[in-house]
Amino acid sequence: MARLLITGGAGFIGSHTCVVLLEAGHELLVLDDFSNSSPVALDRVQELSGRSLQGIEGDVRDAAVLEQLFANAASAGAPIEAVIHFAGLKAVVESVVDPLHYWDVNVSGTRALLSAMETHGCRSLVFSSTSTVYGEPDSFPLTETTPTDPIHPYAQTKLAVEQMLSALASTGDWRVASLRYFNPVGAHPSGRIGEDPLGIPNNLFPFITQIAAGRLEKLRVFGDDYPTPDGTGIRDYLHVMDLAEAHAAAVDHLLQSDAPLSLTLNLGTGQGLSVLDVVHGFEAATGITIPYEVVERRPGDVPKLEACPKQAANVLGWSAKRSLADMCRDGWAWQSANPQGYREAP
Ligand code: UFG
Repeated sequence: MARLLITGGAGFIGSHTCVVLLEAGHELLVLDDFSNSSPVALDRVQELSGRSLQGIEGDVRDAAVLEQLFANAASAGAPIEAVIHFAGLKAVVESVVDPLHYWDVNVSGTRALLSAMETHGCRSLVFSSTSTVYGEPDSFPLTETTPTDPIHPYAQTKLAVEQMLSALASTGDWRVASLRYFNPVGAHPSGRIGEDPLGIPNNLFPFITQIAAGRLEKLRVFGDDYPTPDGTGIRDYLHVMDLAEAHAAAVDHLLQSDAPLSLTLNLGTGQGLSVLDVVHGFEAATGITIPYEVVERRPGDVPKLEACPKQAANVLGWSAKRSLADMCRDGWAWQSANPQGYREAP
């Protein structure tokens, strides 16, 4: 069992991963600035796992905070052995409007983290990357050797970090894994933790669950004239608990490796679903009708993204197990029990 630093551990993917890691016996320090997450998530992570973690409020760009964190752990005789780095910004449109902010948080933030790690001899890192680094590909499924073509600053900053990590790994002595997530959805089956976006959700799945909860009226389906069987966009949705388990497998793999390592892995199910597949899957799993209308395409959207997940299976022995019905049932368990997310109901 290892002592791990989890940046952004109160967020959607981070909180689910913390539950899995605590249940596996790891000791966790969680650094989060709560700019797009809630400390309540960390309370519930501890409640679900029956174990405690150490939460630290701070910004990943803050070298002094990082230095103190690594130094304190070392002087307590329990140095940090590896880091899982979730902290970052992820709204595509916002990244187009304010690219410098994205380069600052996502790239400079990671650079500050890597410097602190280097100083303290902690050289194992799992990084949250994204399937959007593939841009608008035309052959499927996407393998890790499919050429990258990031088409907005969000994806550009994620790819820049991947490049920084592989350059670092080539200096020797680092073990790094860039995990390219496809579309994580759903929630812990308890309904105690889940996705809690600020304001009106940008993403399809929380938009649907908020319609079901009565917070929103109608889904706008962004285009039904894509070159796909029903004309709506196809994505590779995966259950956030499957994704959380992939992080646990990745960090174990890095810690067990005797040699320097630089991994890039797609994390998806390998089975693309259209917007209407998700709408109808949600209706079938919950019995709730989701009203929708088809509107214009959303700028920047691509017709299809679908993973080849074989490499993750070969390297980590991990593959996604949960179905669309599981994603819908668990996502709805969270939203229905917490209609206002982690905020108190008005
Ligand atoms: N969609 C709608 N209506 C909506 C929202 C989305 O029809 O209100 C459609 C989109 O057009 C797309 C599909 O649903 O075809 C999925 O869209 P999302 O916004 O849920 O997700 P994206 O594929 O656009 O991916 C984005 C980021 C990823 C990130 C993912 C989940 O680009 O990096 O959200 O956060 F992983």
